[in-house]
Amino acid sequence: MLEDKLSTVAKAMKRSEIRELLKLVAKPEIISFAGGMPDPTLFPSKLIAEVTSEVMEKEGERALQYGPTEGDTELREKLAEWDKVDIDNILITTASQQGLDLVSKIFIDPGDTVIVGYPTYLGGLQAFNSYDAKFIGIPLDDEGMKVDVLEGTLQKLSRDRNLPKFIYIVPDFQNPKGVTMPTDRRKRVLELASKYDLLILSDTPYRPLRYSGEPCPNFFHLDGGMERVITLFTFSKILCPGFRLGYIVAPPDIIDKLVVAKQGTDLCTSPFNQAIVREIIKQDKLDRHIKKLVSVYKEKRDRMLSALDNYMPKMEGLSWTRPDGGLFLWLTLPEGMDANRMFERALASNVAYVVGSAFHYDGNCKNTMRLNFSYPTLEKIDEGIKRLAKVIEEEAKEVL
Ligand SMILES: Cc1ncc(COP(=O)(O)O)c(C=O)c1O
Repeated sequence: MLEDKLSTVAKAMKRSEIRELLKLVAKPEIISFAGGMPDPTLFPSKLIAEVTSEVMEKEGERALQYGPTEGDTELREKLAEWDKVDIDNILITTASQQGLDLVSKIFIDPGDTVIVGYPTYLGGLQAFNSYDAKFIGIPLDDEGMKVDVLEGTLQKLSRDRNLPKFIYIVPDFQNPKGVTMPTDRRKRVLELASKYDLLILSDTPYRPLRYSGEPCPNFFHLDGGMERVITLFTFSKILCPGFRLGYIVAPPDIIDKLVVAKQGTDLCTSPFNQAIVREIIKQDKLDRHIKKLVSVYKEKRDRMLSALDNYMPKMEGLSWTRPDGGLFLWLTLPEGMDANRMFERALASNVAYVVGSAFHYDGNCKNTMRLNFSYPTLEKIDEGIKRLAKVIEEEAKEVL
């Protein structure tokens, strides 16, 4: 009965594998590297409580009222200053997941091609899928999307008159692989986008969380970037996901269309949350908080890398990425092993991860997994990797 009434895209919608999986790993005895969550002990609760009472005192009526769809003007001004763009380039969103949805809403017709990383962020795939996009995946190496493969793919798509509207990229400490695209490669991607007249959708939630190496410029600060790049930012990883606050930087004509699309979605992003974040930024407290996050997460990343170096069995084909920032690293098992099959063994040993196939639009690459290092404590990282190493060793004995 319900099935008859659902739209075609709703019929095709699938529940997120990760959300289903997170339910399984919620038991306290399980050390979970599965979620993508910030460390909750680092949420600046006291600061937020103080700023909240200031906001209520100073501008309570405005903060509790509807606000402009574009977002709080003063917050947009601050963000524009921060990113060295114009206020007309900025739209405040209900975090970056809404950015993914709004961009899909204004650009994707059913059957349109979207180029994505292979693998890429699952929530991106879900957003594009809701508008019936067809995916073409570009494999990644340690520097992000392989640009020669991208070039060949675009040549072919151009010949077939099937060029995508945009290329979806997570350039900094990519979710799930943890790899970062260096400046030269960003330039080449931008040149290709310009040659084929495509947009780039650059999703950058982890950008401020850099623990080593030098920062790369945002796409929109590179030559020609201001014309064809839509960038998503979020406060989820640098403040708290519970605010559901983010913003988009894009050319003003694109921002205009996104504003109309957003009106039909939620009228405006919570003015209350915007006022709190605006005040935290104005009091120069966000940068300080980010510095603290960077120092804690750097230690956690280092602990996970040294635990992997110390405990993982020496096995041909077993490798992992060494991210310069973000919240994740990516582990590849020897060919012939299957992280999906191994998952039950891992759960029985009280350790969990996300299977890498969930980040591939076609569900392939089963010998991979994503490991999160921001949420567990240092001790749990150590113990969890020890358990995982044993699980991999036992599984390998059985299947290889
Ligand atoms: C690449 C990427 N984009 C977007 C999001 C969504 O974040 P939010 O909607 O909380 O800003 C995430 C969350 O993990 C992510 O990893």
